[in-house]
Amino acid sequence: MSEDSKVRQIGVGGLELTKEDKEMVNRVLDSNRLSYGPMSKTFEAEFAKVHDSKFALFTNSGTSSLHIAIAALKERGGWQDGDEVIVPSVTFVATSNVVIHNNLKPVFADVEPNTFNINPKEIEKHITERTRAIMPVHLLGLPADMDPIMKLAKKHNLKVIEDSAETMFAKYKGKMVGSFGDVGCFSTYVAHYIVTGVGGINTTSDRDLAVRLRSLMNHGRDAIYISIDDDNTTDKGKLHEIISKRFSFVTLGHSFRATEMEAALGLSQLRRKDAIIKRRKEIAAKYAQGLSDLSEHIQLQETPSDRDNVYMLFGIVYKGGDKTELVDFLEENGIETRDLLPLINQPVYVKMFGNLENKYPVAKMLNHSGFYIGCHQYLTDKDIDYVISKFHEFFRG
Ligand SMILES: Cc1ncc(COP(=O)(O)O)c(C=O)c1O
Repeated sequence: MSEDSKVRQIGVGGLELTKEDKEMVNRVLDSNRLSYGPMSKTFEAEFAKVHDSKFALFTNSGTSSLHIAIAALKERGGWQDGDEVIVPSVTFVATSNVVIHNNLKPVFADVEPNTFNINPKEIEKHITERTRAIMPVHLLGLPADMDPIMKLAKKHNLKVIEDSAETMFAKYKGKMVGSFGDVGCFSTYVAHYIVTGVGGINTTSDRDLAVRLRSLMNHGRDAIYISIDDDNTTDKGKLHEIISKRFSFVTLGHSFRATEMEAALGLSQLRRKDAIIKRRKEIAAKYAQGLSDLSEHIQLQETPSDRDNVYMLFGIVYKGGDKTELVDFLEENGIETRDLLPLINQPVYVKMFGNLENKYPVAKMLNHSGFYIGCHQYLTDKDIDYVISKFHEFFRG
């Protein structure tokens, strides 16, 4: 079969590790140091700097980062079990799962039909005496509308946890995602901007919170001894204090650590972030241009002019209602799709909260008509032309 007669495969994610990525991992292997060490520290420091934050903490997943963010704020703020956290009605299930795992109650707020992000006006409707935090999600690469969200948080004395698992290196009104709230949470899982296999990152500029997060991801250890280098001191007094507290656990923690190998992959890719984002934006612009004449059939995610969109994924809504036929056609032609982050209609959520869709009309519409396709830096111009041509073929038919 010739190259051109094969069905092209357009995945929602991709990965091509470079020579530099592999060399970085080899440096770790040659060092015989796999647990939290110099590579993780450098990755954290560089990631924090890029995201205008004082601290970054590398964990083993975005979900772990979200989990300890809530746990740390709950513990510090004296929140009670059953207190409420507002989350978008459209997001990846982990955003809301971690609220439940922390014995808190997720309260859903509907999203905006044009950006698919949480609607600040809807958040206000759901604030009660028991609300403790808002968790905006920067969906698909687009920052949420942070100004009104931060205003609401201030007015009602709420904490803000940014779920930035789908958005890295993006600004809203000139300010980086992950630097608005008390804490930001990122993911480096497969199909993200930088891919380390598994991985998550917390960003914060709150030193006390950073100490709590570090402890929570390390079994709840006392901050005096977290990594095996922490007892490298010639100060005898300090050494004796460390020895006495090396087995001191001060919070109910978790084993959420990543390794130096993941940090090496993260650091190497972080250093080429500009090229990654440039290409993603280029691809999105080509899609938008090529699909613009289909606007009576499909709606694309809208990017307000006050913020970046770094396009982890390319979101599309089928205006004709049920998307099944369109999605099946794309998949038959090798174009991978995913539902647009449906949450409240998932079997486990219906079981816990009942049938909520009628209370969230935008989420309901997106659950039935929304989907996304890949927008990653490994797609070629030919791939993009192919995708555009398949959309036209479908609507012509
Ligand atoms: C919005 C959102 N939150 C959280 C996560 C969880 O991240 P991870 O898979 O690294 O646990 C994801 C995963 O992509 C996500 O999209």
